[in-house]
Amino acid sequence: MLSFHQAVAEDFDAVNQLILKQVHSDVGLVEEIGHYLIEAGGKRLRPLLVLLIANSLKYEGTQQHTLAAIIEFIHSATLLHDDVVDISDMRRGRATANAKWGNAPSVLVGDFLYSRAFQMMVAIGNMEIMDILSNTTNTIAEGEVQQLINAGDPKLTEANYFEVIHKKTAVLFEAACETATVLSNGDKQLQTQLKAYGYHLGMAFQLIDDALDYTGSSDTLGKNVGDDLAEGKPTLPLIVAMQNGTTEESALIANTIQSGSREIDSAILEQIVSIIQRTGSIDYTEKKAVAHVAEAKAALTSLQDSEYKQALLDLADFSIARNH
Ligand code: IPE
Ligand code: IPE
Ligand code: MG
Ligand code: MG
Ligand code: MG
Repeated sequence: MLSFHQAVAEDFDAVNQLILKQVHSDVGLVEEIGHYLIEAGGKRLRPLLVLLIANSLKYEGTQQHTLAAIIEFIHSATLLHDDVVDISDMRRGRATANAKWGNAPSVLVGDFLYSRAFQMMVAIGNMEIMDILSNTTNTIAEGEVQQLINAGDPKLTEANYFEVIHKKTAVLFEAACETATVLSNGDKQLQTQLKAYGYHLGMAFQLIDDALDYTGSSDTLGKNVGDDLAEGKPTLPLIVAMQNGTTEESALIANTIQSGSREIDSAILEQIVSIIQRTGSIDYTEKKAVAHVAEAKAALTSLQDSEYKQALLDLADFSIARNH
């Protein structure tokens, strides 16, 4: 448990229990794969956002637990699908579901988790929340497809990259914050501000994820580094390195992106990591994340001071200081 979970420790336990209850299926394999991913933990940042916002807005009721579980189910479904698409074999420190059971079961259990999330949403019975979450899952799918189209394209622009990370990652952070505000009867202005907090936090989070794919360690991350390059994914560190590197360096990166070969020579990966470092591309990526974190914090200005607000501020700092 990270320090900012403390403020909502009891709620957090309730959410974890609900998640385990709701992953139940009479079909053994569904439950097995669902449990496998969920028991591996993860940081549970998105449900935490729901709990912190509901508490900071003094929500009285228990539906915040359902909402938090829904958001984690949507996240878990995207991870199952993501690891198939990215051909990744490590997640949360263990073999991915696709590495263990194959692609078909992973995709299908991802669908189960998505649809379970929608069943739970209907149980909440709030049309505005359903509206936000259905748009969110649709946008995530669109973002992942856009990213697939962009793979292997060394000419991808920074603007295009930002559009993709907004859609595939930041929208779920936005939705967690916005739906928690709606559930807690926050006014429209607060809804816009807390949605903006989620947006900036999510952007910072993915920027750092993309930096860690080059600078992180597999042991602490619990997933393999270098997967983005192996996929030919032109993330910000590579885009900037191609702009600032020598002609030879840019050509090496462009060719590696284009070939998108799963088997990248470790010597080439090392060479590209050193180009990324030398050209200040990681610094640049981190600076962009730092700017988003500042905006995320600024979006909380009108929220009343409380330990929950403090945890939201700390969470923003964590999104850039993290190594996992
Ligand atoms: C991984 O998200 C997917 C991204 C959007 C980068 P997290 O880093 O929150 O994954 P877990 O849930 O903690 O494993
Ligand atoms: C995460 O992007 C996007 C999702 C919405 C799942 P990545 O593909 O970079 O996530 P990781 O690094 O595998 O967790
Ligand atoms: Mg991935
Ligand atoms: Mg991916
Ligand atoms: Mg990643």
